[in-house]
Amino acid sequence: MKKEEFVLPSLKVAQRRTKARSNIEKELFEIPHEVKNLGVDRSFYLRTYGCQANERDGETIAGILETLQFTQVNTPEEADLIILNTCAVRKNAEDKVLGELGSLKRLKKTNPDLMFAMCGCMAQEEEIISIILEKYPHVDLVFGTHNIHRLPQLLYQAMMNKERTIEVFSKEGDVIENLPVKRFGTHKAWVNIMYGCDKFCTYCIVPYTRGKERSRTVEDILEEVKELQDSNFKEITLLGQNVNSYGKDLGLDGGFAHLLEEVAKTGIERIRFTTSHPWDFSDAMVDAIAKYDNIMPFIHLPVQSGDNDMLKIMGRRYTVEDYKETFDKLKAKVKNCAFSTDIIVGFPNETEEQFQRTLDIVDYCQFDNAFTFIYSPREGTPAAKMKDNVAMEVKQDRLNRLMEKTNGYARQQNVKYEGMVCKVLVDGPSKKNKEVYSGYTEQNKLVNFVTDKKLNPGDIVEVEILEAKTWTLKGKQI
Ligand code: SAH
Ligand code: SF4
Ligand code: F3S
Repeated sequence: MKKEEFVLPSLKVAQRRTKARSNIEKELFEIPHEVKNLGVDRSFYLRTYGCQANERDGETIAGILETLQFTQVNTPEEADLIILNTCAVRKNAEDKVLGELGSLKRLKKTNPDLMFAMCGCMAQEEEIISIILEKYPHVDLVFGTHNIHRLPQLLYQAMMNKERTIEVFSKEGDVIENLPVKRFGTHKAWVNIMYGCDKFCTYCIVPYTRGKERSRTVEDILEEVKELQDSNFKEITLLGQNVNSYGKDLGLDGGFAHLLEEVAKTGIERIRFTTSHPWDFSDAMVDAIAKYDNIMPFIHLPVQSGDNDMLKIMGRRYTVEDYKETFDKLKAKVKNCAFSTDIIVGFPNETEEQFQRTLDIVDYCQFDNAFTFIYSPREGTPAAKMKDNVAMEVKQDRLNRLMEKTNGYARQQNVKYEGMVCKVLVDGPSKKNKEVYSGYTEQNKLVNFVTDKKLNPGDIVEVEILEAKTWTLKGKQI
């Protein structure tokens, strides 16, 4: 296939937002007759990087492939098709994928028919696609986050016509409701409530790789939750880059707070959601979380920085004071609530004083868990054009100091649970020791515990916490 026949991503197009509302499509996904049996006697290996939205996309990709009769395998060595579902949020995430693509190439020697596909957020990047075109000729198929529904046709083209196939849409298009899904969990599931992001934080690539914010309808979401409930799922996590914006594009009254209440009323045992932006966390949301026992007392609330000027340059739309206000409200109203956060250090020109204020907000909130990152410039974002006077050693040193603090609080928060009895949703025997079971508390804390009973994944049991470690709790079933 000639280069002109590829559909390549365009950053310019991805940066643009239009007022046009996305359609809700119930029949757009289809499998052409000739593609129906494409996977007979063929296997695929899928590896997903990045966030929960990408994990959930992986379940759609696996669902499509199994509909085409492919079999999923657990190692790349066994596969006829290797798919890397990628993340672009930081450069080290990308480097991992490019390294992996390079090292897996060797498998083509023993299996010349082996096919490589790349999808996910990296596929949406102009720069990455030119690298793939130039240096990774063994990648046979590239598709993006907006055209997963085209996988049957694209695979057919790449596989049967033996043509290198690249199709990446730069615009998001519609909300497609009839895609198949293969759930990787047996008792915990992801549920998309919306796609895309319109916040345009100045450092972040997600608004360009995932397109504009578009919501699913309350009815479609509830239908999925009820199906999961009927199939014995105990926990769902509602997904969106910023769930607080849910429904705004559809002009829905009540937005996310209303949706949360409706989902809570289904009676499913555990409801989680991610991610909430501190900027538009409404009082109605706080009240809904406080009101329903099946909405879990655990909030991921990314603060990014503890300095107001820095937050402004990051385009975060809240101040440290606003953040504390939301945090305090949640703490006061939601019983025993746990908090996690994301923090970026070494944003362009961050001063030591500004970094100190980030340490201060950590002291104030004493997070149960914090994901800490060194700022990574992303092509096409406003921050990537900023001059930066902070040396990498300084950034690394700040990250180390920050992590020392956040790890200390993680442990301190866990110690509070010693002697307490927690409800634990059982995942199964622990990875390290088959005699021990593991599961998560309502506050999302991993517990390894002993019991003399035979338990099944999905059981909810009471566990007395005997010992706290930094990242896990140890206990026994009562
Ligand atoms: N939608 C989510 C975040 C998705 S990205 C939210 O707004 O909370 C997850 C985290 O990655 C972000 O919270 C941020 O802390 C980090 N991140 C995003 N872009 C980054 C960049 N360019 N460099 C370093 N960290 C980044
Ligand atoms: Fe990125 Fe900000 Fe959107 Fe989160 S809210 S995905 S950090 S632009
Ligand atoms: Fe990564 Fe894309 Fe998620 S960039 S964090 S996989 S939205």
